[in-house]
Amino acid sequence: MYPRMNLWTDMKNRDEIGIALLGFGNVGSGTYEVIEENFTSIKEKVGVKIYVKKILVRDLNAGRRVKAPAELLTCNPEDIFKDPSVDIVAELLGGLEPATEYMIRALDSGKHVVSANKAALAANLPQLLDAVERSGRVLRYEAAVCGAIPVMDVIDRALAANKISGISGIVNGTTNYILTRMGEEAADYASVLADAQRLGFAEADPSGDVEGFDAANKLSLLIWQAFGKYIHPDKIARKGITELGLADIDAAALRGNKIKLIAQADDGPEGVEASVAPREVPADSFLGRCAGEYNAVQLDCDMAGPIFLMGKGAGPRPTGSAVVGDIISIARDMRSGV
Ligand SMILES: NC(=O)c1ccc[n+]([C@@H]2O[C@H](COP(=O)([O-])OP(=O)(O)OC[C@H]3O[C@@H](n4cnc5c(N)ncnc54)[C@H](OP(=O)(O)O)[C@@H]3O)[C@@H](O)[C@H]2O)c1
Repeated sequence: MYPRMNLWTDMKNRDEIGIALLGFGNVGSGTYEVIEENFTSIKEKVGVKIYVKKILVRDLNAGRRVKAPAELLTCNPEDIFKDPSVDIVAELLGGLEPATEYMIRALDSGKHVVSANKAALAANLPQLLDAVERSGRVLRYEAAVCGAIPVMDVIDRALAANKISGISGIVNGTTNYILTRMGEEAADYASVLADAQRLGFAEADPSGDVEGFDAANKLSLLIWQAFGKYIHPDKIARKGITELGLADIDAAALRGNKIKLIAQADDGPEGVEASVAPREVPADSFLGRCAGEYNAVQLDCDMAGPIFLMGKGAGPRPTGSAVVGDIISIARDMRSGV
């Protein structure tokens, strides 16, 4: 355990905030680009300069899409936990460990934490919330659910006056891309998947996406945000898209429908019912019109009625936009001493 600064009060007298990035892959580099390229406009909006102070990687010499000054890179996480100039740690590593351990270490070291890592967050949310409680620091994870779409913030702030009873969404861009192309080009699953991997829309091991694990992680986080109930992703009924053939897509089209991988949760008198599965939706409905790698979420609210959100669910800059949005939100609270 490291000594904690009282960041909330100390911040009032400071005009800069230090960030550490854990990871400099797709999302880490996208986050760095957003901070660097929009440095001036962010400074004008937030009244504070945001600097990247350190970047944790595995390999200091790896070739990288985005270049950062060599002195920022480190392979030693202690350099970050012990650095008093780092106020906010952005966890962009992926995987359960060491990502969860590092988030907890960062919180216990007095840092606020932002994460895009839905797998670690969904699996270990109770332990992470314990660390938040213990440390008095903030954990935000907008980027973990639907990339650039600000769904977590909308639930938390704009819809705070509502009871939300239902969530349904297309929360995995890879499967939506595959299903869209299968429908539009009458191409079979295997050839579209191979093409998606070549174009970078699907990973070499696509099972996390096509078997619905990624969508279940995001649904678990949405359920917590919207219903205030934690359901471990392993407890969510899950079916992927691997068994879908062109015949299924054609049959749905004859009924005026499209097949989408739908993450759905309802908070009823019997408790929360949650599932991830391929479902038919009307082709001209909100979810039916969400095509390609885009994501979409519908929230059923008691006062506001249905709310529809759509946008890019992945990619370095869209996801970096959400990471930096969380950083700015924490910076604003720090500035105002909340
Ligand atoms: N890709 C997207 O569009 C997207 C969208 C939303 C959320 N996310 C989430 O964001 C997270 C990051 O995804 P990504 O696509 O950016 O992954 P990625 O491209 O594989 O990058 C991972 C980065 O973490 C570093 N790293 C991994 N393990 C490490 C360790 N033990 N110690 C130090 N460094 C380590 C790697 O270092 P090296 O570079 O040295 O190997 C690399 O820079 C994941 O949780 C993912 O689910 C991704």
